[in-house]
Amino acid sequence: MYHKIMEISKRRGIIYPSFEIYGGLSGFYDYGPIGSRIKQNIENLIREFYLIDEGCMEVECPVLSPEDVWIASGHVENFTDKLTECTKCGEPYRADHLVEERLQRSCDHMGISELNDKINELGIKCPKCGGKLDGVYDYNLMFKTYVGPGKYKTSVYLRPETAQTTYLSFKRLWEIGRKKLPLGALQIGRSFRNEISPRQGMVRLREFNQAEIQFFVDPDKKESPRFDEVKGIKTKIIDKNDKTFEMTIGEAVENNIIGIQMIAYLLGKSLLLFKRMGINSDLLKLRQHKDNERAFYSVDTWDVEYDSPSLGRIELVGVSDRTDYDLRQHMNLSGENMHVEVNGRKFIPHVIEVAYGIDRPFYCVIESCFRGDNGRVYFSFPPNIAPYRVAVFPLVSKDNLPMKSIEIFNMLRKRRILSIYDESGSIGRRYARADEIGIPFCITVDYDTLKDDTVTIRYRDTKEQKRIQIKDIPSNIQY
Ligand code: GLY
Repeated sequence: MYHKIMEISKRRGIIYPSFEIYGGLSGFYDYGPIGSRIKQNIENLIREFYLIDEGCMEVECPVLSPEDVWIASGHVENFTDKLTECTKCGEPYRADHLVEERLQRSCDHMGISELNDKINELGIKCPKCGGKLDGVYDYNLMFKTYVGPGKYKTSVYLRPETAQTTYLSFKRLWEIGRKKLPLGALQIGRSFRNEISPRQGMVRLREFNQAEIQFFVDPDKKESPRFDEVKGIKTKIIDKNDKTFEMTIGEAVENNIIGIQMIAYLLGKSLLLFKRMGINSDLLKLRQHKDNERAFYSVDTWDVEYDSPSLGRIELVGVSDRTDYDLRQHMNLSGENMHVEVNGRKFIPHVIEVAYGIDRPFYCVIESCFRGDNGRVYFSFPPNIAPYRVAVFPLVSKDNLPMKSIEIFNMLRKRRILSIYDESGSIGRRYARADEIGIPFCITVDYDTLKDDTVTIRYRDTKEQKRIQIKDIPSNIQY
C-alpha cells in the first residue's frame, strides 16, 4: 500500500523525493503543487484550532540559532541517538532500531550498555554485509554550521525543534500578552535532525515541518477550562507500564491514568483535530512515554499515535509537561530573569507543550483518505484539506459551454475559492483526474445551463450528481 500511495503521490504532484536528478538524498522530500496545498490546509486547521479556539499567538523565529541556545537547552549534551557502525562495511545503524526489529517491540528507552548486551546476546550482525557491529555510542542529531566570516565566525545549529526559539522571547510575549497566564504561543516551521538512517519516507525526515504550541502556565494550574469539550471522547490508552485501557478521556483523568488535566485536554483536542484532517480515528490511540524513553526536558509525555496499515506505529503529536526546565536553563545561561508575578506570587511559568509534526499527519491523511477499490482511485480528503475545492468542466468544449464554464470559474475566483478549470479529454476522464487529487466537488456545464442557468454538481465520494442553480454553487460547496 505504501508503494502504491507513494507512486500516485509522485505522479500527481503530491510529494516526491528531493534532488531526484542528482540521485536524491535520504530524508528529504518536496511537496509538489498538490501536496503544498494539502500541507498548508493542514497547517491552517492547526492555526484555526489554536489561534481561534485557544487564543494563542503565533510567532516565527529563525531556523539557525547560536550555540549557547542549545547548550542551555541541553540539546548539545543530550539530543543524541544510539549509533552503531559495521566494522566491515562502515554502514551506520540506530542500535535501538536493530534490536527493535529482532524483538518486535519498542527499544527506544534502552541505554548504551543494554543495547550492546542485546546486540551480543541476539547475535545481531550488519544487515547489509553480515559484518560485526561496533560498540554503541551517542551521536548528536543537530546540524552544526557557522555564521559570518573570519574572526566574526559564530557557531550555530539548525534548530532540532521550534520550541526553544519560542522560549527565547518569553518575556516579550508575556508583555505583549498583557501579563496573563496561561499564555499560548504557536510556531509553525522547519526543524532539522541529522537522522542516522532515515527510512519510512515521510515519517522520518532530516528537514521536517512542525507546529508546536507552548502553553506557559501557572505551575499550580494545569487544568483546562474547556475540558468538558473532550471528556466524552472514548479512545484506546496505553500507559507507561504498557497497561491498556479503552475509556473516555474524562475517565482517564478521574482514574489518574492521565495525571494532568491540561495534557488530557490537549490530547482530546488533537484527536478531534486529526479527525477533522480526515485521519481514520479508529487507528488512533494515546500512549504515555516510559520513564526511560521520555525526552530529557519532560516529566510526563503522551503521544497520539496512528497505527498505519503500511508503516506501523506513527507518532503524530507529543504533549509534554516540560515544567520550568527550559525557561530556567535560559535564565541561568543568558541572565534574563524569567520570573513573572501573578497576584503577588513570583514564579517561573511551567510549559505544557503540544508538538505536532506536519509531515507525519500529512502522510496519515493521504493514507487514510486513499480509496483504491474496484478499479477507481481517489482521495476522500475533507473539503477543508483538499487541494482544490471545485473543478469546473464544460460537458463538451464547443457551443459556448467553455465560455459559460469560465464565467463560473471566474465567479469562484472572485469569491477566493481555489478551483480548477479543465476542458481536455472526455468528461469521464476529467472526473477521474479530479478524483485522483481528491477534489470534492465537480461542476459541469451542459446545454441546459445555457437555457436555465443550472449546472450539475457531482460529489466525489458517492459520484452522486444533482442539478442546482449557478447562484447556489457557493452554498453547496461549503463544509
Ligand atoms: N519540541 C518537541 C519535539 O520536537 O519533539
